[in-house]
Amino acid sequence: MSQDHEIETLFKNNRQWVAEVTREDPDFFVRTASQQTPKYLWIGCSDSRVTPNQITGLPPGQLFVHRNIANVINESDLNCMSVVDFAVRVLQVRHVIVCGHYGCAGVHAAMGDITQGPLDDWLDGVRALWDHNKGDLLKGSLETAKDRMTELNVRKQMLSLCRTPSIEHAWRHQNSLQIHGWIYGLKNGLLRSLYPDIGSISQRTRAESESSGL
Ligand code: CO
Repeated sequence: MSQDHEIETLFKNNRQWVAEVTREDPDFFVRTASQQTPKYLWIGCSDSRVTPNQITGLPPGQLFVHRNIANVINESDLNCMSVVDFAVRVLQVRHVIVCGHYGCAGVHAAMGDITQGPLDDWLDGVRALWDHNKGDLLKGSLETAKDRMTELNVRKQMLSLCRTPSIEHAWRHQNSLQIHGWIYGLKNGLLRSLYPDIGSISQRTRAESESSGL
């Protein structure tokens, strides 16, 4: 396939999609252009195989999304913090889903030494998580350690999210807001909840005491 053709395919697909959506729901674009009212914020990995709207069956307008390599949530990341703040304060989403996925190359990279360029800094926190837990995790097979690290990373990022000012502010003002920690299986397409939801400062305190060191 030529490079031009690779790109032309996207426009062709787009026109086809517009035709299908309009056939099913003639007012769809008029309606969704006027406002968005998503109930969910999704924070996931940039991996091309983990496509949030598709795997949750949600049409445009219902899922606010932030993605980066290894679904990292860091208070010094202005991009992520802006997305979280806008979602919680302006859009008033009721759920934030932190979703990792098995087979995450970002997590695997943090478990080894071979990263380069900006990714090396980006994965600092994930690498620290690995350094802290590798003694335990390496008692089993490397495959199991990779899966367990991916799950622990969801836990770590979930707790980081719960400590951000925007989330705390929502809880202090009694806004109903649940934080979810999920994992996606590349091999079967299934989503699974890994940890109990966190929906208040007291639940966060409990979660932190059960996950010391994260
Ligand atoms: Co990934």
